[in-house]
Amino acid sequence: MTDQGRSESFLSVENLSVTYVGRGREVRAVRNCSFSFRKGNMTGLVGESGSGKSSVLMAIPRLLPAGTRVTGSIVCGGEDLTAMSEQEINARRWRRMALVPQGAMNSFTPHLSIERHITEVLEHHLRASRAESRKKAAELIRSVGLEPDIMPRFPHELSGGQRQRAALAAATACDPDFLLADEPTTALDVITQKEVLDTLKRLTAERGMGLLLVTHDLPLAANVCETLLVMKDGEIVERGDSGRMVKNPEHPYTRALIGAIRDMESGRPS
Ligand SMILES: Nc1ncnc2c1ncn2[C@@H]1O[C@H](COP(=O)(O)OP(=O)(O)O)[C@@H](O)[C@H]1O
Ligand SMILES: [Mg+2]
Repeated sequence: MTDQGRSESFLSVENLSVTYVGRGREVRAVRNCSFSFRKGNMTGLVGESGSGKSSVLMAIPRLLPAGTRVTGSIVCGGEDLTAMSEQEINARRWRRMALVPQGAMNSFTPHLSIERHITEVLEHHLRASRAESRKKAAELIRSVGLEPDIMPRFPHELSGGQRQRAALAAATACDPDFLLADEPTTALDVITQKEVLDTLKRLTAERGMGLLLVTHDLPLAANVCETLLVMKDGEIVERGDSGRMVKNPEHPYTRALIGAIRDMESGRPS
């Protein structure tokens, strides 16, 4: 599909609503959210826990639990993801968009080595040979600042920071157009967090990848992303340039988010 109007924005989410349906109870987690970004753009989706960030993020590659009601449109590179068959959307996961999960421990299979995690992605999604995959895996591991000698190790033998880097190596294996990162550094200490974020920033810039970064930490998102979306109770309440938002937040909720993080960092009760 060629659509001049849409090709400007690489990812375009319009009127997205997500409702979880279960045991006679409905939770409307996302309400009519719209946003878009151009290729290579880095956008932060921020808000407190429960505001609906992960629901937005997981709706894009269509990885929400079965039965969840999703309405609205998600157009990526001119293709409507919501209209695709499972097979079609699956062919775009890893290659168009790749997920960087919150705790890499959960996304790794305990008995597979780090090397095998990455080679499996390459073999499965790019149909690469074992030899090609091993060579590429070593390059990817170096690109995230790890030494290739960690390749034969198992996930539990790595530190939290090393695991998040390895997850980043796996996510970038198929050269995706953009990364969907859900609290990728929340479980890490402050110094490791900064190192992993710097790596994420460098990789996305070097490869011209887009990034949708979900975090509860507004200043952290502002440090990485040029644009921020602030989410509260399933709705986007403020959006715009991240520098402007940190200096001059318009919505009281945005001000509260900035204040809460500052209070936490200075050790004062909020
Ligand atoms: N699988 C689910 N079933 C029912 N409710 C859910 C499910 N996942 C999330 N929710 C609810 O949806 C709302 C938004 O959650 P979520 O998108 O995870 O927010 P965030 O990522 O900002 O913390 C919350 O009220 C949460 O409890
Ligand atoms: Mg979440």
